[in-house]
Amino acid sequence: MKSFFIGLIVSLVGMQLVAQEREYVIVVHGGAGAMAGLENDQEKAAQYYAALDSALTIGDAILSKGGEGPQAVMAVINYFESNPLFNAGVGATCTIDGTFELDAAIMEGKDLSAGAVAGVKFIKHPIDAAYAVKTQTEHVMLAGEGADLFAKAKGLDTVEDNQYFATPKTMKWVEQLKKESKKNGTVGCVVLDKQGNLTAGTSTGGRFKKQWGRVGDAPIIGAGTYADNEGCAVSCTGHGEYYIRHVVAYNLSTRVKMLHQPIEKAADEIIFGELNSEAGNGGLIAVDKKGNIAMPFNSGGMHRGYLYKEKGKSTVTKAVGIGKTMKVLQK
Ligand code: GLY
Repeated sequence: MKSFFIGLIVSLVGMQLVAQEREYVIVVHGGAGAMAGLENDQEKAAQYYAALDSALTIGDAILSKGGEGPQAVMAVINYFESNPLFNAGVGATCTIDGTFELDAAIMEGKDLSAGAVAGVKFIKHPIDAAYAVKTQTEHVMLAGEGADLFAKAKGLDTVEDNQYFATPKTMKWVEQLKKESKKNGTVGCVVLDKQGNLTAGTSTGGRFKKQWGRVGDAPIIGAGTYADNEGCAVSCTGHGEYYIRHVVAYNLSTRVKMLHQPIEKAADEIIFGELNSEAGNGGLIAVDKKGNIAMPFNSGGMHRGYLYKEKGKSTVTKAVGIGKTMKVLQK
């Protein structure tokens, strides 16, 4: 009788695990900051919801067909880098001099292979250059002129004029350069693909009014970007200097891997404990090998979205958010 009940409990727990098993997952962010009020501006909010939805749909089209994580992460980040709403590629924030210096990184959890570029001025899609560093060099990061020349030599899309990345919005910021302002923002994507592998990618124009030559957390492996199949895939957004000091992305992956902390608890401890809205304003997105996700932020808001497909189901679940609440688009 006793063994019958133990067997029943084991099979019920097993059933629950199977029911929750996720075939693939994609999580995106489009930056964190003081954007809580944005939810109430219906027209503006609709633009962000639509853009986040498009990003998830782009990733879904690749992952649903069995495409690998890096392919999905690059396609999603290419989309964000082309969309002036976000602080990456066109629409990036500028330096104190009104110029644009872009950072990006990508990392695969199956072999810890990684590539990054920092402070690039002429590469249309810094995430493509980061991937080229990962796959076509023996290095992890290229910076500045060397990275720009590398991208050109590899035939990636480059621009002649650094002001290509400017938009009317960023030009307004240039005019306001002397005023105090706190602007965060970055784009990122983390993925669990059908093969069970994790990938993380991040791209950014960095921090508004940054000193030229400044490098943020996004391209620093372990700070703003990290992936380890045994831990999790992480992409951060926020005040980069704090994310570097707290090695946030590696910190989270290692808590999951070594301490076996649930990903949400571990992410909350870092974002609300080690960091806070004053020292380390921002957030992160993360996914582990079981498809569990975390998306905490200690700022007013964070553009974010997730999409996942459970094993045995034909539909996907999809939701996007800006402020505290998520808007479910598909269930
Ligand atoms: N998190 C982006 C940056 O600080 O550059």
